[in-house]
Amino acid sequence: MAGALALPGMADAAPPAKWTVPDISHLPNDDWGKTVRYGHDLIARTASLIGPEVKDSHRRLSGNNLNCQSCHIDAGTRQFGLPLVGVYADFPNYRARSGAVGTIEDRIQGCMTRSMNGKPLPPDSAEMTAMVAYLKFLSSGIAVGAKTFGRGSGAMPELTRAADPVKGKRIYQKTCAACHQVNGAGQRAGRTGDAQGYSVPPLWGPDSFNTGAGMYRLIGAANFIHSNMPDGTHWNKPAISTTDAWDVAAYIESRPRPGRANLARDYPRRNEKPVDTPYGPYADHAPVTQHKYGPFAAIRVALKASRAK
Ligand code: HEC
Ligand code: HEC
Repeated sequence: MAGALALPGMADAAPPAKWTVPDISHLPNDDWGKTVRYGHDLIARTASLIGPEVKDSHRRLSGNNLNCQSCHIDAGTRQFGLPLVGVYADFPNYRARSGAVGTIEDRIQGCMTRSMNGKPLPPDSAEMTAMVAYLKFLSSGIAVGAKTFGRGSGAMPELTRAADPVKGKRIYQKTCAACHQVNGAGQRAGRTGDAQGYSVPPLWGPDSFNTGAGMYRLIGAANFIHSNMPDGTHWNKPAISTTDAWDVAAYIESRPRPGRANLARDYPRRNEKPVDTPYGPYADHAPVTQHKYGPFAAIRVALKASRAK
């Protein structure tokens, strides 16, 4: 059965490296230690520090009440939970979305303006410095350019049909709604307006990630769900089948969320656009719905041919 064999990332994997996360509590209380800890807090409690409900209006930088760790689980320390371990050692790198080499700061701004539906951090701010410091800390001992096993959210086998939001809705109601609510709005930690964010984050609606976010693409979302959900699931012991993960991800992507302007400017080299980008223009002729829900194999073939030209 596909579900039992899904070993995310195994395809191009070196032998699983030991997963060591440096311990933040061992840092001294000097300037470096304080900065790294502030960076950690910004990832873990984003809504309370720079969210849209904080008292000081100048500090309202993220546009929704998610925390970075709503997706980068355990402040970016969980294998296949979109970890931030080893990421600093991999930047600057070429980003297809901008068609240029970008820095780690650029990457943080990407999630600020898309996943957090907010503003970029002021480049010289204490917040940007602290986030980068925390990311550097999480890459302690990892060689520049080294591959870290557990990066991303996995690479489970794809369906040969389109993922099905109707089937996904039934799975959602059975397996996810107890926490994320039938209407996808999640559960507030405190009250609306108190900047405490969520105990369970929303998956769609006005306070969710926008249509330019990585989580709005099916492949990453389905793998994230398979490796990490229901909350507490560990990637090597998935709780739902791969098929259910594809279909429930399709249901989430079918729901309304904030729009991002000027998406047509993403991926200036169209044949580098990920197959599951749910907005055009495209280098191939597959319809938007196929890019949104799959199947992806034929699109991949068309893009490869286009790049070979
Ligand atoms: C709604 C989910 C979500 C939230 C919230 C979120 N991110 Fe991300 N982030 C992603 C996804 C998905 C990716 C991978 C996208 C891709 O490149 O395929 C990513 C990638 C990244 C990367 C690059 C990781 C790598 O492996 O190269 C960094 C750095 C990052 N995010 C930082 C942040 C920061 C800082 C915040 C909070 C300000 C944040 N993210 C909030 C979903 C999220
Ligand atoms: C036990 C409660 C619980 C259940 C059940 C659950 N989740 Fe989650 N989910 C969470 C929490 C809490 C987070 C935030 C990450 C964390 O703290 O680990 C989260 C985060 C997420 C995220 C990323 C954050 C965002 O805002 O997009 C997605 C996507 C997601 N869950 C989808 C699902 C799906 C699909 C299911 C059903 C298969 C599911 N979850 C079941 C509690 C739950």
